[in-house]
Amino acid sequence: MWWSSPTSVHGLQKDETCDARSRFANDTARRGSRIGQSSVGKSHSVKIINGRAETHGGAVLDILNEAIVNSTALYDYKPRSAASMDAWFQAKEAGRFPVLCAVDAAGNLLGFSSYGTFRSWPAYKYSVEHSVYVHKDHRGKGIGRALLSSLIEYARSQQYHLLIGGIDVANAASIALHRTLGFTHAGTIQQAGFKFGRWLDLGFYQLLLDTPSHPEDG
Ligand SMILES: CC(C)(COP(=O)(O)OP(=O)(O)OC[C@H]1O[C@@H](n2cnc3c(N)ncnc32)[C@H](O)[C@@H]1OP(=O)(O)O)[C@@H](O)C(=O)NCCC(=O)NCCS
Repeated sequence: MWWSSPTSVHGLQKDETCDARSRFANDTARRGSRIGQSSVGKSHSVKIINGRAETHGGAVLDILNEAIVNSTALYDYKPRSAASMDAWFQAKEAGRFPVLCAVDAAGNLLGFSSYGTFRSWPAYKYSVEHSVYVHKDHRGKGIGRALLSSLIEYARSQQYHLLIGGIDVANAASIALHRTLGFTHAGTIQQAGFKFGRWLDLGFYQLLLDTPSHPEDG
């Protein structure tokens, strides 16, 4: 069991799943999300579950490595090793950070979202930096929206105050996803990375939450 939850966060207990269509029914009605309305929603039961290293590590790695090799979604050059995923999941567990996985009825991983420490100094304790990835064959079906919506609920349940996404300025899909869920542009760091023979500008997008109700020092 890699994930230990002190409470029920985002309404998910250990091993519990939620059906994206019902969990996001209200959101769907309000925002017109394609989850529950598209062919994916109708023909597949897409669920958001808590990921496990042993079950989902390989598929998470495949999605990350596809993004590393083919895009600037990750400022990373070389595909990661399987062993690196063990450390990745262990760090999530140690920080009590979620790894939310969208899976189909057969249990295949369609995408995942997660967050972790933004900066390690103590006074950043109410802030997290997140990521969301959808398998290349399943993009544009509302899965990214479901994963990020779920992650926002999770962050609220864990009493975080700020979600931060660092997004390459050329990543129109991710910027659109974040904007549609209320994230605002906080600023851009020019030439923060260098990949594929060019400088990369990194935009930061932020979402303030109404939690915690009583923030404290220390
Ligand atoms: C970014 C990503 C997670 C979006 O996931 P997705 O499942 O394809 O997105 P969705 O279908 O849920 O769409 C969410 C919103 O973004 C918009 N969007 C999605 N893809 C888009 C595109 N290529 N261009 C413009 N808008 C797009 C949709 O219109 C939708 O808005 P709406 O709900 O208001 O209609 C996915 O494209 C991905 O995994 N990309 C590669 C990895 C990556 O870039 N991750 C983010 C790193 S910062």
